[in-house]
Amino acid sequence: MAPIPMLSADPAFDALKRWVADTTGMSFLLSRDDTVGHAVQQRMQIHGLTSVAHYLRWLDSADGSEEAQDLIAELTIGETYFFRFRAQWTAFVERIIPDILDRNRTLRRLHLWCAGCSSGPEPYTAAILLQEQFQHRLEGWDLRILGTDINRQFLHLARQARYSDWAFRATPDEVRTRCFTRVGRSWELRPAYRQVVSFQQHNLVRGAFPPDPALMPDLIFCRNVFIYFDGATNRRVIRQFRDILADDGWLLVGHAESDLSLFDGFDCLALADTTLYRKSTHAPERRRRDQPRPVLARPVLARPVPPPARPVLPKAVSPARSAAPAVARPPVQTGAEPTPPESVDGTDRYRLVLHQLAAEADGDAARLALDWLAEDQMNPWPHLALAAVHSHRGEDDKAERSLRDALYLDRTFLLAHYELGCRLARRGAGDEARRSFRTVQSLCLRLGPAVPVPGAAPLTAGDLDSAAALQLNRLSPP
Ligand SMILES: C[S@@+](CC[C@H](N)C(=O)[O-])C[C@H]1O[C@@H](n2cnc3c(N)ncnc32)[C@H](O)[C@@H]1O
Repeated sequence: MAPIPMLSADPAFDALKRWVADTTGMSFLLSRDDTVGHAVQQRMQIHGLTSVAHYLRWLDSADGSEEAQDLIAELTIGETYFFRFRAQWTAFVERIIPDILDRNRTLRRLHLWCAGCSSGPEPYTAAILLQEQFQHRLEGWDLRILGTDINRQFLHLARQARYSDWAFRATPDEVRTRCFTRVGRSWELRPAYRQVVSFQQHNLVRGAFPPDPALMPDLIFCRNVFIYFDGATNRRVIRQFRDILADDGWLLVGHAESDLSLFDGFDCLALADTTLYRKSTHAPERRRRDQPRPVLARPVLARPVPPPARPVLPKAVSPARSAAPAVARPPVQTGAEPTPPESVDGTDRYRLVLHQLAAEADGDAARLALDWLAEDQMNPWPHLALAAVHSHRGEDDKAERSLRDALYLDRTFLLAHYELGCRLARRGAGDEARRSFRTVQSLCLRLGPAVPVPGAAPLTAGDLDSAAALQLNRLSPP
């Protein structure tokens, strides 16, 4: 294979990267000369081409669409598995489906769309749960689960519905045995769970919404996809989701996608372990465009990391009470008000802060965080809580300082490292961000993939490791 630097030195290489980013939405590839270079080089060699400009002209031409599909297939990342992010499936069974069944009891319709479904475990997990838990209630209903993806090779695998053991790393053994048949070294989903699921190719940045005019989604899954797109693309896609969702319809996104400002026109339901979005029936623009875009840390925390030996926090980095004046704002009227946790001990206080932020009561959230900090300045959790408040208000420098305070007190504070990494990546401090995500990965490695992140169960070290890997993937190489 010719060395990659030759390809990236080609004057048409930047235009080709732009073509890839515009076609797929995967703007992170603009800074990934190595990834794009390898894929393009491979495709060009197959066709005996040597000029990037020539290859690009072909991609753009009427007969280039097949080749475009093959190039896109080289560039997409399809990491997925059954029952991924268990807390959301619990919410699916306990809250979302009962709500839709109740609301649609006259229509007798339940339509689900898994956008960016890769090789299919996500729509099939939904089908398994619906079949096993709601079969009787769904009798005679128009039940439909559509899985779409830009990568047609993933869709081919999805239609085969055969998976290796690795796809079951979060699936209870008895579920796998009951719902799948052993075929050689793979597991094949039984037909009973497949009949309501269909697959279709669809590009979220170029395609029609909905992908099929007969689909009227009550629930859209789009998990671990937005991380590859830029903010403007995410905003547009989420707005299109909102437009086609049934009234009060639901949207589930991955837990690395925490920019709350993207979800204008949705009510945010912050549960203990995950956040759900629901199309709100009031005006979509809750936030003025000129207001800072808040970022809400994910409400996943449960128990505190055991505190290390506590140094005295230097005065200069100690957040002053006046640093974040509590400006009380009336809570947004929502159909689904966040439920406060029962106890307000320990890190439940952190969750309470997040609940207040989710309800747009940032004055209350700030007061809670600051009171907690005043009581227990050597505890890293109130610093994390304060960072969430600052983030919500768009006070980036202060948020970063609070995260660094938390880490000063606990160098092993996984979630603070992760949040700091995201923040650094957003402000373009690539090297530092990479260091944060690598620290997350090495701390996760020490824990082992199945071990709940200290203080953040049920999020596992494996989940957080995958999220850090995605973030590292988005950053250009050093
Ligand atoms: C990491 S996988 C996520 C799979 C699944 N949603 C999950 O969370 O387990 C991301 C998927 O997004 C798809 N994707 C990327 N860009 C897309 C686009 N523009 N339109 C539709 N799908 C896209 C990729 O092909 C890939 O299958």
